[in-house]
Amino acid sequence: MMLIKNIELKGFRNYQEAKAQFGEGINLIAGSNAQGKTNLLEAIYFLTGAKSFRTRRDSELIGFKEEHASVISDFFSRGREQRLEIYLKRKGRKRIVLNGVKKKSAADIAGCICAILFCPSDLEIVRGPASERRKFIDSAICQLRPKYVSCLSEFNRLYEHKVRILRDFKEKPGLLKVLDDFNMRLAKTGAELIYYRASWCGKLSVYASKIHREISGCGEELEIIYKSYGISGENQSVKPSEIYSLLMEHQKEHRQAEIDSGMCLSGAQKDDLIININSRPAKGYASQGQIRTSALSLKLAEREISFRDMGEYPILLLDDVLSELDPQRQEFVLNKISGGQVFISCCDGEEIEKKTGGRIYKIVAGRFI
Ligand SMILES: Nc1ncnc2c1ncn2[C@@H]1O[C@H](COP(=O)(O)OP(=O)(O)O)[C@@H](O)[C@H]1O
Ligand SMILES: [Mg+2]
Repeated sequence: MMLIKNIELKGFRNYQEAKAQFGEGINLIAGSNAQGKTNLLEAIYFLTGAKSFRTRRDSELIGFKEEHASVISDFFSRGREQRLEIYLKRKGRKRIVLNGVKKKSAADIAGCICAILFCPSDLEIVRGPASERRKFIDSAICQLRPKYVSCLSEFNRLYEHKVRILRDFKEKPGLLKVLDDFNMRLAKTGAELIYYRASWCGKLSVYASKIHREISGCGEELEIIYKSYGISGENQSVKPSEIYSLLMEHQKEHRQAEIDSGMCLSGAQKDDLIININSRPAKGYASQGQIRTSALSLKLAEREISFRDMGEYPILLLDDVLSELDPQRQEFVLNKISGGQVFISCCDGEEIEKKTGGRIYKIVAGRFI
């Protein structure tokens, strides 16, 4: 079981110096606005790959008046006690030390601590454009399958190239000669991507609808359907070779339209996830609470897949998930998420605190009270 046993922050965001020990199961992080709840979740997330989910610039993580920051944690993972130390300074590179050994780069700690994060911007997975859903799918599979990472970057490279061909061929007609070659290679790599995506989304669909039924407590049905030009109709369990043929066919049909419009109209870059609640698209019809619930169901389903795959539940970080949820759905989040360690941030409020059986941490201005 993966477990963050404690964390020690120095100069991190608004935490000058703070230490906390965490428990198994639910850890509730409570406080008023702008006290440091999200900052704490960010620090925990930082342990998973020395990256923030809010910024790309490490210097933003260093306290306004500080020159250095550090995040240190004792944790349990892959059957043993471990210790990770990350040091930041305003100028110069970050230093990462795992179990006393200095690491060259953030990639060297990948997989040591795994976390799944839910934050308010994840509502975009349900109500935003298709690119948000692909990002969700891609980053989840990337965590599980190193091969998918290289496949995806190869696909993106080829895709960029095709975009340039279609954009520039009017000035350089010679470019069109290689279009068919690129279409073929895109279909080949795309077929692999779609194969992984279809299999992952198939599992996602099963877990997410089960979890959604539990959270909503009554007959609310969440339906998740993976949609791709490489998959025909209902049959989602196909071989890469069949996907390849479908992609090639679709590309052929759209070849002229692509040349006329100068845009890529066919391929795995068009994949999407259909999200229905009670048979209607969540995007158009769902309430705020339903959107939040379905986004949460997706994240919890992702966690379930990771557990089956890795044998350990990743750490679950839920930032501001409780607002807009009715008491029954809150009750589910606070008590029914079982297995693994969970961190939930919420605004001060006796009612919420009374509802959980987990530990409660109060935060005021970057301090644990
Ligand atoms: N690098 C930093 N140094 C000091 N304070 C910071 C830094 N970055 C953010 N803050 C402060 O942290 C507070 C926000 O904390 P946050 O964890 O997002 O609040 P909340 O408890 O509402 O989730 C803000 O008041 C902000 O000014
Ligand atoms: Mg916050």
